[in-house]
Amino acid sequence: MKLFEPLALGDLSLPNRIVMAPMTRNRAERTVPSTMAARYYGARSTAGLILTEAAQVSAQGQGYPDTPGIQTLEQIGAWRKVTEAVHGLGGRIFIQLYHVGRLSHSDYHGLRPAAPSPIATIGFIRTPSGTKEYEVPHALSAAEIAGVIEEFADASRAAREAGFDGIEIHGGQGFLIDQFIQSGTNERTDRYGGGVENRLRFALEVIEAVKASWEAERVAFLVSPGGNHKGIRDENPIETFSHLGRKLGGVGIGFLHVLEQPIVEVSPTALMRASFGGVLLSSEGYTKDTAEEAVASGAADLIAFGRAYTANPDLVERFRNGRELDYPDPLTFYAGGAKGYIDNLDP
Ligand SMILES: Cc1cc2nc3c(=O)[nH]c(=O)nc-3n(C[C@H](O)[C@H](O)[C@H](O)COP(=O)(O)O)c2cc1C
Repeated sequence: MKLFEPLALGDLSLPNRIVMAPMTRNRAERTVPSTMAARYYGARSTAGLILTEAAQVSAQGQGYPDTPGIQTLEQIGAWRKVTEAVHGLGGRIFIQLYHVGRLSHSDYHGLRPAAPSPIATIGFIRTPSGTKEYEVPHALSAAEIAGVIEEFADASRAAREAGFDGIEIHGGQGFLIDQFIQSGTNERTDRYGGGVENRLRFALEVIEAVKASWEAERVAFLVSPGGNHKGIRDENPIETFSHLGRKLGGVGIGFLHVLEQPIVEVSPTALMRASFGGVLLSSEGYTKDTAEEAVASGAADLIAFGRAYTANPDLVERFRNGRELDYPDPLTFYAGGAKGYIDNLDP
């Protein structure tokens, strides 16, 4: 099966096409990865590649309880234990970096959330002091935008110190980069807003900045052209994301991660395949059979599995041997603690 064939990302060889999808699990001790994380990720080392849960690049970039950062020596030291565990067991691991932008709350850091434009999302957010309505974010000035780009660069350097094999920049799901890309959250009239070229500028400048410490093959980017998470929307998603695909193809990255959430009747994976031209990772709702079909037909090069990986750390072996999968337990996804995280592992 093609799913079990290796794929080279520059000088990094992935032994198979099965990727562990990034999954926030809310088990950090405040913002420091817990000691459980090394066992959790280590147990998944047979994946072609592990993508970590999203890690915020700054305090203002946090939007969920107990999610990890990667700035302080303590955080970097805790992540190093994770990468050592994975490497010790023969695996490969990229860290996913993000900034949630308007999906944050001042209860996390004492500041107004930051965004391209002062447009709040509708709904509620869990904060350290209870469930609150989302706040109207502060529109970043040009100088502040440069500061956030620097935070992505610093986090990328820190990821290198922590021993990661690469980084994935989260450009989707309505988080800060997506808020710049999509027209519904970006009403700027400067060089970061207006036409599509301007709306893509922030994403491309982040990529440029992180490439100061990582070779292109070790930098991945995630997009979700069809998602409407927390009210994110674009007037013309097909034009916006095809343009982004062409730009990313031009600058060169290790792979493009596409969430397969359809835009009306268009497949985002097919849309990005046509415009990007490089290595493509697709995720959302795949089974072993549909994954094999996607890589065999050339629709994608890599497939990520999320929920299945929560209950089946040995997913690659199960697929290889045709063994049944255990069911994930959604109640433990974000619950904290060992249950549903490391309690299903051998001692
Ligand atoms: C518990 C949980 C946490 C998630 N956290 C993240 C995250 O931090 N970053 C991200 O890009 N996607 C996140 N996702 C989305 C997954 O990466 C993946 O796209 C999704 O689970 C669909 O794939 P699946 O059908 O194989 O589960 C999360 C999904 C789940 C179930």
